[in-house]
Amino acid sequence: MPSERLQKVLANAGVAARRKAEAIILEGRVTVNGKVVRELGVKADIETDRIELDGQRVEAVKTSTYIVLWKPARVVTTLQDEFNRRTVADVVRGVTARIYPVGRLDYDADGVLLMTDDGATAAALTHPGGGVPKIYRAKIRGRPGEGALESLRAGIELEDGRASVIDIRVVETGNHASRGHSVVELTVVEGRNHLVKRLLEAVGHPVVALRRIRFGPLDLEGLKPGGWRHLRKDEVGRLRAFASAARKKRKAGKPMP
Ligand code: URA
Repeated sequence: MPSERLQKVLANAGVAARRKAEAIILEGRVTVNGKVVRELGVKADIETDRIELDGQRVEAVKTSTYIVLWKPARVVTTLQDEFNRRTVADVVRGVTARIYPVGRLDYDADGVLLMTDDGATAAALTHPGGGVPKIYRAKIRGRPGEGALESLRAGIELEDGRASVIDIRVVETGNHASRGHSVVELTVVEGRNHLVKRLLEAVGHPVVALRRIRFGPLDLEGLKPGGWRHLRKDEVGRLRAFASAARKKRKAGKPMP
């Protein structure tokens, strides 16, 4: 592996995002081959140099496979379907690693889906207590008033317990041309089955179409429905940093901001 700037090496290893890694270096918490490095220009090789943060060796990200897919509607979020429907494995072809989908996205929903063979990261990102934010854009029936939005923020009793949205805003208000359909964008941190549909149904605005536009640090930029790509190294670093923050938040018992 070629030498790279230390802050990039740290970011790629999932220690922290690049800016935060720079701050960590400036604080004098990083050593390369036993010497404290406090400047930002220094280069290092994670394979051949011994890089330590707070006395702990920083290891290279193991070579897992990470794919972001824009799951199209009418595709099941499993590798095999008992009803012979099209699955995400039919969409992501030619990948030899044993990747699987992280979290679920309904058959009729589309949007961001992470697929990986990195079980630890997948588990951290989907654990209910990890509080990883997921942003959805939902086309709904009717025009939600402030009361409905407030109820969703305050929390609603569903059949499997109370649930709420972290944030919700109306992006398009229903009118004659849209046949009375509005569009809302909302953030949830849980991964319960059909959660967004059930929440919106509960306030009288059933979902007509649902798209996930963000899953943690991942979005749909550069993709089309059915399109997918491998994450870049820096994105893998960010994803793993996100997973590790989720793990810590879960242990501390608070969701991510
Ligand atoms: N909420 C839903 O209702 N469906 C999804 O696919 C994801 C979240």
